[in-house]
Amino acid sequence: MANRIARALRLIPVAALGLVGFASAQQRVVNVLCSPDLAWCEALGPAFKQATGIDLRFVRLSSGEGLARLRAEASRPQFDVWFGGTGDPHLIAFNEGLTEFYKPKAWNDIREDLRKAVGETYIPLYTGAIGFVVNPQVLQRRNLPEPKRWTDLADPRYKGLIAMPDPNTSGTGYTILATLVQIYGEDQAFSLLAKIHRNIAQYTRSGSAPGQLAGRGDVAIAIQFAHDGVKFAMEGFPLKIYFPLEGVGYEIGGLSLIKGAPNREAAIRFIEWALTPEAQAIAAKAGSLQIQSNKKTPVPPNSPKLASITLIKYDFAKYGSTDVRNRIVGRWTKDIFPQPR
Ligand code: F6P
Repeated sequence: MANRIARALRLIPVAALGLVGFASAQQRVVNVLCSPDLAWCEALGPAFKQATGIDLRFVRLSSGEGLARLRAEASRPQFDVWFGGTGDPHLIAFNEGLTEFYKPKAWNDIREDLRKAVGETYIPLYTGAIGFVVNPQVLQRRNLPEPKRWTDLADPRYKGLIAMPDPNTSGTGYTILATLVQIYGEDQAFSLLAKIHRNIAQYTRSGSAPGQLAGRGDVAIAIQFAHDGVKFAMEGFPLKIYFPLEGVGYEIGGLSLIKGAPNREAAIRFIEWALTPEAQAIAAKAGSLQIQSNKKTPVPPNSPKLASITLIKYDFAKYGSTDVRNRIVGRWTKDIFPQPR
């Protein structure tokens, strides 16, 4: 009997060690829902592994798709962190209890205007403005002027020459929709959208895809984030960026901790790391030219500077609410998208 107890006691530390080993083994990986450009998502893993020893797995989904995935997985979350993507869906995810606010150590290093705009809901990761990404060669071939205003996009001479993202799947598409509603009021915005619709060659799933179409000359005008257009121009596509005179909406891209994250500890390490100037500088190296949220992260010389752009007073709280998103995206899907073009 005494021998049996002694043997059992000798086994306990081994078993306990095994458990500890198992627990931390679980935290050697972080699962990231990644919504910016793929090249930036791909560059995160190796750098994070080098900094922390933790593996990073990611799935790239556009912001609207990401929100849909988080909702579908709410009872059994698969992701630990949502990295990037437009802010409205991050705010909606927070309001719906899909994410939780985590205050990072770098909180006070984050640009104050961005922190103030979103409050303690999600962490601002970057910012950037909507613009027209234009291929002047396509316009010149057809003897067409460059569009200067949102209303110019309704000109029937641009038929088949415009691309924009679908506001259901793409956070960029939703930002464009919300921008027009804020500039013109809902009814007028929808009658403008109906006219623009007749000129649309393609609604894309992701926010940056319209610029690729414009770059290749498949369309003349892409409506999307200006920084994505600059990226394509730097890659050699013949593109110019314009900001419509009525003003443009902008994003405060998000970083969120998933509520019930399976690897919470690793998720927090990732969030802390992702906000360092070193980690944020990876974006520009991967060609993503948003202005990063940490004041200490250098602003890439080619990033569109928000101070020089006419921005609308974007109502983040309103357009980051489930009801408003459901209503305006629902109206667009029902009244605009099915119309002939
Ligand atoms: O490509 C980068 C980017 O434009 C981000 O600035 C933005 O947050 C994200 O893509 C939005 O992507 P999507 O429109 O596909 O949701």
